[in-house]
Amino acid sequence: MKFFIDTANLDQIKEAHDLGILDGVTTNPSLMAKEGITGEENVINHYKAICDIVEDNVSAEVISTTFDEIVKEGEALAALNPKIVVKVPMIKDGVKAIKYFSSKGIKTNCTLIFSAGQALLAAKAGATYVSPFLGRLDDISSDGLLLIEDIRTIFDNYGYETQILAASIRGPLHIVNCAKLGADVITAPLAAIVGLLKHPLTDSGLATFLADHAKAAGK
Ligand code: E4P
Repeated sequence: MKFFIDTANLDQIKEAHDLGILDGVTTNPSLMAKEGITGEENVINHYKAICDIVEDNVSAEVISTTFDEIVKEGEALAALNPKIVVKVPMIKDGVKAIKYFSSKGIKTNCTLIFSAGQALLAAKAGATYVSPFLGRLDDISSDGLLLIEDIRTIFDNYGYETQILAASIRGPLHIVNCAKLGADVITAPLAAIVGLLKHPLTDSGLATFLADHAKAAGK
């Protein structure tokens, strides 16, 4: 399973990268705004800074919503660095643009996926990744993990190479359950990734080991 970090914060990207488990980064316009990254030049430079930290898979989301503009913006993003994955929303012109990018060998991440039908459409257009937002479904008492399961079944039925990039992750249990369902990638906040480390029995067990060692050593 690939682990992407879901942030535009460079310090958190560096921390996750230094753990040695990071395979990519996803951003979105809200995450960029949260870091105060505004203006075309600052946005471009920020994506370049992210590309300097990680080895591959840096999702950069277009703001455009018409085919011609998505293509123009996406080609400019893709030209920044081979690590860039052009992130395109699940809209009609987005599907058309994903088909175009796919024909040009430009990697894409179709985002704002909330149904299996949307994921199927993106896969048929040749998307590299689809991003089902399981946390936002859970937030409205809908079953986000069921969407992951449905997409996995459909992609396996037809051998689609499009990868399931489980997004809108709310915690470590989402990561574990996505792994059990066969999602190819998760993208999560640093806290959810680091949360996988935590177990009280590990902490108490280590404390006992160290105390017993110290006692035996007469310390
Ligand atoms: C993926 O990159 C999505 O934009 C992101 O995971 C959305 O997460 P949220 O539902 O917490 O905003």
